[in-house]
Amino acid sequence: MNSFISWVGGKKALRDWIVQHFPFCYSRYIEVFGGGGWVLFHKHPRNDFEVYNDFNSLLVNLFRCVQCKSKARKMKKLLQYSLNSREEFDRIRKVLNNPNARMADYRRAAYYYQLIRYSYSSGLDSFASQPHDIRSDFPLIDMATRRLANVVVEHGSFERVIPHYDRPTSFFYCDPPYHTSEKFYKNIGGFTEKKHILLRDTLLNVKGRFLLSYNDDKFVRELYDHKGIYMLEKKRPHNMRQRFKGGSEFPELLIANYDLNDPSQLLMGQTTLFHMNGGLLLP
Ligand SMILES: C[S@@+](CC[C@H](N)C(=O)[O-])C[C@H]1O[C@@H](n2cnc3c(N)ncnc32)[C@H](O)[C@@H]1O
Repeated sequence: MNSFISWVGGKKALRDWIVQHFPFCYSRYIEVFGGGGWVLFHKHPRNDFEVYNDFNSLLVNLFRCVQCKSKARKMKKLLQYSLNSREEFDRIRKVLNNPNARMADYRRAAYYYQLIRYSYSSGLDSFASQPHDIRSDFPLIDMATRRLANVVVEHGSFERVIPHYDRPTSFFYCDPPYHTSEKFYKNIGGFTEKKHILLRDTLLNVKGRFLLSYNDDKFVRELYDHKGIYMLEKKRPHNMRQRFKGGSEFPELLIANYDLNDPSQLLMGQTTLFHMNGGLLLP
């Protein structure tokens, strides 16, 4: 299924490729840099223990309210009467940026959802000026409520969350802010080069498996140039640049502590008699 929000850096276009490279065997799935959760919503729940995490407290509050049936109902009730207008957008943005503004969690979630939905490219900053009936989003929110029912929603920075959930059968899918694109993420206290290095050091010490999606650049490749670490590259159309230069591509990288080219180590490699659909077996 789709996520109920679009998100900067969301993996909608890459989710199939990512899920195809999940390891064969794990019992705990931890999505460390959750964002819109495009990979979590795409993968099949199987029987694994699932964790969604993000360091953005407004985003985590939205996920927690969508997860809870009664809060999701109250949130939708507020959204039903929301205005798709620049004045309302600016007012909400001010309220959410005020750390002293007190309100119920479901109201904060409704406001944040409006900012995501009505901002240009879901960037949260500028009003998109696009007609949209927000009630048409409710069926997807309802599906997300059902899908998140058994998911643990965490709010922590990766260096705390990864060791906490690490076991030999844990699998961490990590989609950090891309190197040199960190400024697009708000409400996280910044993501510096030191954090990229700390993430590498944390991941090199895990007992479980990890899969990272990153932009393919020299810094990232050098960071993970270690024994037992495997990389796989892919180029996808660069939507923004293609407007000016046809054929522009964006290089993506998968990095893992298991062999991404060995089908016997991949979930996908074990399913030769079936077609895959987000990890769901279809006869
Ligand atoms: C590239 S986005 C993830 C997109 C997500 N995979 C999707 O498909 O929607 C990166 C996410 O990392 C979160 N983030 C930034 N710093 C973090 C930290 N220190 N620990 C955990 N999450 C963090 C951001 O809030 C952002 O949502």
